[in-house]
Amino acid sequence: MHRLTITRPDDWHLHLRDGDVLGSVLPDTARRFRRAIIMPNLKPPVTTVEAAAEYRERILAALPEEADFEPLMTLYLTEATTPGMIEAAKASGFIHGVKLYPAGATTNAASGVADIRRCYPVFEAMQRVDLPLLVHGEVTDPEVDIFDREAVFIERHLQPLIREFPELRVVLEHTTTESGVEFVESGPENIAATITPQHLLYNRNALFAGGIRPHHYCLPVLKRERHRQTLLRAATSGHPRFFLGTDSAPHPRHAKESACGCAGIYSAHAAIEFYAEAFASVDALDKLEAFASFHGPDFYRLPRNTDSITLERVDWTVPEAVLFGHDPGVPLRAGETVAWQLARY
Ligand code: NCD
Ligand code: ZN
Repeated sequence: MHRLTITRPDDWHLHLRDGDVLGSVLPDTARRFRRAIIMPNLKPPVTTVEAAAEYRERILAALPEEADFEPLMTLYLTEATTPGMIEAAKASGFIHGVKLYPAGATTNAASGVADIRRCYPVFEAMQRVDLPLLVHGEVTDPEVDIFDREAVFIERHLQPLIREFPELRVVLEHTTTESGVEFVESGPENIAATITPQHLLYNRNALFAGGIRPHHYCLPVLKRERHRQTLLRAATSGHPRFFLGTDSAPHPRHAKESACGCAGIYSAHAAIEFYAEAFASVDALDKLEAFASFHGPDFYRLPRNTDSITLERVDWTVPEAVLFGHDPGVPLRAGETVAWQLARY
């Protein structure tokens, strides 16, 4: 197949940041996707309906004129979030989920949740008003091996949570392991997961190819090949509760190439193209449209998009650097080729 037209996709997990960076990364996403679930881990985090409304306005103001793009906002869960705030979020109509970061799990997660049980009244409200819970599913316990943190989180926190709130819609964000895939496949209809392009295309060797590779560092960290294979199988299986979420997360080059480099991979410049590569690698391009454009809106109970995009099987070279505001940043696959290209009209 050399040309592929699919219903316009959506990105169900995206970091846009704010200010100048927002302005420079948003066009990449808006060219490919009609909607995106916008992560709330700004500094300070987006914890109130009012802050989400203002952030949404800033995103809309930063859009290129010709863009047809809708930001789907989220709230950042803290131990101070109240059931009343959940009701207000649902009533807003523009907030589509609440994001749980275990305290300290990842970039800007310092004000996340230290004791998940303290949020149970909030989960009760979310279940009642039917607002999805989006989970960064990793324990932060330094005793737990970093490669096991997803599996341990599922066992320690997610299984008890879904037993307690059987109707709550839960998205295990950027799942990276067999445990995550198993959790979704064996779970009820209200349990789903997003999968990133990097976890479909790379295993953990990419972190150490000839030396340490900070631009392949994200959280959850890349896993071993066996897990990548499982994710590819899940994404291309047609299972309706796996869908596209890039987790594109811009950080300036200096913050990545550092003695203590930030977690996050920027993929928005070629997001759907990366997924096309991954699906083509297992001869499953026919499964891309459902994963990228149908399963997400169906789970979030939003209409599917009606326009389309076309991908062509043409190699192109990703620039060595792009600008995130005033700072150079290094996009995924910098200086190397991508096998698919978005057709220009
Ligand atoms: C994300 C970021 O930079 O905001 N980083 C990452 O490695 N994925 C945060 C996150 O989603 O964990
Ligand atoms: Zn993320």
